[in-house]
Amino acid sequence: MKNRLALITGASSGIGQATAVALARRGIDSILTYHSNPSGVEATLQAVRACGAQARALRLDVGRSETFPAFVAELGGEPLHYLVNNAGVGRAAAFGEASEELFDELMRVLLKGPYFLTQALLPLLAEGGAVVHVSSSSSEMHCVSPGYSAYATMKGGLNTMSRYQAKELAERGIRVNCVSPGPTRTRLGGDAFAKHPEYIEPLARQTALGRIGESEDVGEVIAALLAELTWVTGQNLEVSGGFRL
Ligand SMILES: NC(=O)c1ccc[n+]([C@@H]2O[C@H](COP(=O)([O-])OP(=O)(O)OC[C@H]3O[C@@H](n4cnc5c(N)ncnc54)[C@H](OP(=O)(O)O)[C@@H]3O)[C@@H](O)[C@H]2O)c1
Repeated sequence: MKNRLALITGASSGIGQATAVALARRGIDSILTYHSNPSGVEATLQAVRACGAQARALRLDVGRSETFPAFVAELGGEPLHYLVNNAGVGRAAAFGEASEELFDELMRVLLKGPYFLTQALLPLLAEGGAVVHVSSSSSEMHCVSPGYSAYATMKGGLNTMSRYQAKELAERGIRVNCVSPGPTRTRLGGDAFAKHPEYIEPLARQTALGRIGESEDVGEVIAALLAELTWVTGQNLEVSGGFRL
């Protein structure tokens, strides 16, 4: 019997990469998308194959919804069991200085992309499948940080979108949930944690479990929500080790 198949956007590093590996360990194959980092997605392909699962990589800019029909055609009609809308960029600006350009980029990549990519993939999504959108703790009441008004607005929109999709897709047995990571050591924000390791300790001190997250902490939860926690839909699960608890 063929393995189940997942599509993961932004699988060339960080949380997307860790999700691909967590799914591969469960015997789930994947289609991995990348944007500007082909060597990153190559590393993900190797890690997935080392777990005994199959994977292939395709380039996709989730900020360009006009390319989605051609992207879906490239998939060749194979049924998808799982979709992870993970690709994202982290850009910050004080509210008084945020430009329309910044707002529009975040809107296209973090909100419009997941909305219309999910819509474009509906014909391929298998009955009984599942979708996870990667949101952010920044969209929640207790995590409001100056500089993230535009970013967090898009993630808040994603949370709302996810509940509506959960309602409408339930008739096909498709579950839809959000996972909201807290601060997690990835390449987000132009590799901010590698360039500014001094950012880490203050965030760790605000985290109940005493450290920032690693990509694997989040990837495991996404894989479990997709493949194991089959009575959960329409929820937003914070995965942060208790950030600002
Ligand atoms: N790290 C955190 O602290 C944190 C906290 C809350 C939420 N998140 C969310 O977690 C998700 C994954 O980010 P990450 O932390 O794992 O960061 P990351 O290591 O920078 O990974 C981001 C991924 O998104 C892809 N991507 C960026 N722009 C894209 C575009 N226009 N089209 C398609 N793909 C694009 C990147 O591809 P290329 O590198 O190939 O360009 C990369 O694979 C994002 O949605 C982010 O908002 C992260």
